[in-house]
Amino acid sequence: MNFDKRILCIGAGYVGGPTMAVIASKCPRYSVTVVDVDQGRVDAWNSGKPPIYEPGLDEVVRQGLGRNLFFTTDIARGIRENDIIFVSVNTPTKTFGAGAGLAADLQYWELAARQILEHADSSKIVIEKSTFPVKTAQAMERILMSRNDGIHFDVLSNPEFLAEGTAIRDLVNPDRVLIGSRSTERGLKARDELVAIYANWVSRERIITSNIWSSELSKLASNFFLAQRISTINAISAVCEKTGADVSEVAKIVGMDSRIGSRFLNASVGFGGSCFKKDILNLVYLCRVEGLEEVADYVEKVVLINEYQKERFVLNMLTAMFNTLAGKKICLFGFAFKADTGDTRESPAIQIARKLLDEHAEVVITDPQALVSAREDLADVEWGVSYVEDPYEAVRGCHAIAVMTEWNLYRELDYSRIHDLMVKPAFIFDGRNILDHQALYEIGFNVYPIGKRPMSHF
Ligand code: UDX
Repeated sequence: MNFDKRILCIGAGYVGGPTMAVIASKCPRYSVTVVDVDQGRVDAWNSGKPPIYEPGLDEVVRQGLGRNLFFTTDIARGIRENDIIFVSVNTPTKTFGAGAGLAADLQYWELAARQILEHADSSKIVIEKSTFPVKTAQAMERILMSRNDGIHFDVLSNPEFLAEGTAIRDLVNPDRVLIGSRSTERGLKARDELVAIYANWVSRERIITSNIWSSELSKLASNFFLAQRISTINAISAVCEKTGADVSEVAKIVGMDSRIGSRFLNASVGFGGSCFKKDILNLVYLCRVEGLEEVADYVEKVVLINEYQKERFVLNMLTAMFNTLAGKKICLFGFAFKADTGDTRESPAIQIARKLLDEHAEVVITDPQALVSAREDLADVEWGVSYVEDPYEAVRGCHAIAVMTEWNLYRELDYSRIHDLMVKPAFIFDGRNILDHQALYEIGFNVYPIGKRPMSHF
């Protein structure tokens, strides 16, 4: 078949896979190929059963497979045969050398750039899709410009704002699509090519164009703003617990100010996910390198408050349960970093589980999607953890439940039955404030929400 455009994406992960599946579904006349080094992952995509859990994804992938959506490990061919190349490789926080623990590890990104350089036999548009530090596009341009044979590479920044669990909805109906480019003639032409792709389903006024550095920085700034809201309401939750105020009431009242808005004000055990911490630390690193120490300290506090919230949660458990958790069985309801995903990257549950183990508690983990990842996250733990899919089985003989993930499933359980299965006095620590606390109290539980007065029978 003769396709109107040929698109390649390097990296078949949480961003690359769903984004390309949606482009393929919205643009049936474009060919969309996704390459990844991991054969198992490619096979999973090709089987129509994607390697990640995301509501609505399977269907979009199955629509495109064999028609205009292809997954492969053949990167050389992918680069040769496609003119528009998205780079969506992972950029984790560096664990070594300069900037360890803060800066982004760009080795996968640079490898992708060098592969493009090696295999391209015609000019290409190269698009940064993963979140990169500001000025990455420039570095990419410099690598790509080292070829002097008339082949041109135009680098664009097109950060992805999708959130896991709602990826398909966010991609189909985005708040905005952001495209950063050079303002040279070639840069603007490349930009317009990418605008034309999104214009197949996104209205023109939602497609924002900017200079390339604004685009890169806007992604980091957006994640900083979002995470900042969570750390702010979590800081307020600590004040609520000391003063008798109720964080849900405070959040509602504050959020009704239209200048503030009501979203992202749910107090929790802490934010997780692959982006927030990484991107904020990335911004901290940028500020420190540029000598903006005050700004760096301010930005970093968002992460520090998030750590504090997790510590506070376990300390509250310890205090409530008579200052010892040793030998007690505690069931974690949920291990994913949020509902509707099997992803556990930076999930607060990882640290909570480890802190409970440090207290010599036994931890039972239940989650409808994330048990495989949970096992990997805690693979080094030799004693004290078990994984049970059925929540009723999981709570058997437990002293406490700690809600880690806001799965709907946990709202709908039969808590009288659960109470019967547990050791008394039974405790619930609701790290997401999703349960009916009054009803639980009446059943006989001692209930400890976040940012609200505890409801205890003693
Ligand atoms: C985030 C951004 O929202 C998205 O735009 C960006 O592209 C990637 O990073 P994601 O990490 O998938 O998306 O999930 P998000 O819904 O933002 O939640 C992040 C964390 O914050 C989760 O652990 C969530 O449970 C927590 N959270 C969110 C709260 O604790 N309270 C809230 O009010 C909202």
